[in-house]
Amino acid sequence: MTRPEEFMAHALALAGAARGLTDSEPLEGAVLIAGSSLVGMGARLSAGAPHGVAIALGQAGRQARGGTLYTTIEPCARCVALMIEAGVSAVEVALRNPVPTADGRSGLALLERGGVVAGVGLLEAEALALNEVFIKYATTGRPFVTVTSSVSWDGKMATASGDSRWVSSSEALEDVHRLRHQHQAILVGVNTVLADDPKLTTRIPHGRHPLRVVLDSRLRTPPTARLLDAATAPAWIFTSPVADPARRRALEKAGATVFVTGQGNRTDIQDTLAILGQHGIASLLVEGGGEVNGAFFDSRLVDKIVLYLAPKLVGGRDAPTFVEGRGVGLMQDAIALQVQEVTSVGSDLKLVGYPRYSS
Ligand SMILES: NC(=O)c1ccc[n+]([C@@H]2O[C@H](COP(=O)([O-])OP(=O)(O)OC[C@H]3O[C@@H](n4cnc5c(N)ncnc54)[C@H](OP(=O)(O)O)[C@@H]3O)[C@@H](O)[C@H]2O)c1
Repeated sequence: MTRPEEFMAHALALAGAARGLTDSEPLEGAVLIAGSSLVGMGARLSAGAPHGVAIALGQAGRQARGGTLYTTIEPCARCVALMIEAGVSAVEVALRNPVPTADGRSGLALLERGGVVAGVGLLEAEALALNEVFIKYATTGRPFVTVTSSVSWDGKMATASGDSRWVSSSEALEDVHRLRHQHQAILVGVNTVLADDPKLTTRIPHGRHPLRVVLDSRLRTPPTARLLDAATAPAWIFTSPVADPARRRALEKAGATVFVTGQGNRTDIQDTLAILGQHGIASLLVEGGGEVNGAFFDSRLVDKIVLYLAPKLVGGRDAPTFVEGRGVGLMQDAIALQVQEVTSVGSDLKLVGYPRYSS
């Protein structure tokens, strides 16, 4: 790694500490170098919090003059103004921001106008991976969708009788809770609610509970379901026009918010994602079951997969796998996955990958 790459890697690591906590805003970190000294560093810690660039400049004070600032994403107009005022002479930006500043210009254009030398693209691939949620949301208005599941080596998420407690090790379960903490919303199908009565909360210290989302075309969710406990986190049920109004009233009385989607007798996933996006939900964790996961894959709506593979065999023709739905008819049409990570968590393997859909 060159020195500039080391500085940018440091800025990326600072930004990454707030992974999942900046909602629809970018993860942003900054490192300020003057001469041979590190004079300032900072990161945005949550949505609405001060920007890393502003924190780094504040720390550096007068030492910022003539310095070089490394930042993970193109700065906003306010941060550019602060840099110019502080006399920063050069800026390295890892990733362009698809959102223009308030007056329609890019942060890079504003830097150029202010006479600051700006480079772009240093560790861009790493910065893009770090901000995959923000980039998807900023460019489409839809949440970044991650499907996660815990399965046996033969791909089963439950036994044929529907028992699924527990497929994976306690370490993998804890990792899933970390994922929940890092997502704004979690989604399941109504069959999972009926089979497991899950709370869908985060059970790690200082964890954030995601918004709970259920796909339930006929409002079969019982008003006594544990995830309707509104004091912990909101629960939103997405249904279809055929749902019974009396069931709707009972669920609303129990604390749920109900949204009607689509025209037919099934909850419409595209509508669901659009509504979540309109409400500022940038990251969605889909935790199945297999039918709902399958529907997301059939519609090519999954951006990322996190799979925990437990070293056990369940067997049984009727035991569900984690991707049901229609699937594909020919192997050549199978969804290709780009493998990003293979690690061990407890006794399980954790596989992280990205679907690469052919057009
Ligand atoms: N191991 C794990 O990580 C894990 C995680 C979750 C669940 N599970 C297990 O998975 C099993 C349940 O899975 P499942 O496949 O039977 O059901 P599911 O995916 O939980 O729910 C499927 C139901 O969701 C409703 N739905 C609404 N809109 C939909 C749409 N657009 N596309 C698809 N479904 C839609 C449908 O019922 P309506 O037509 O009535 O709306 C459908 O039957 C349980 O045994 C549970 O324990 C395991």
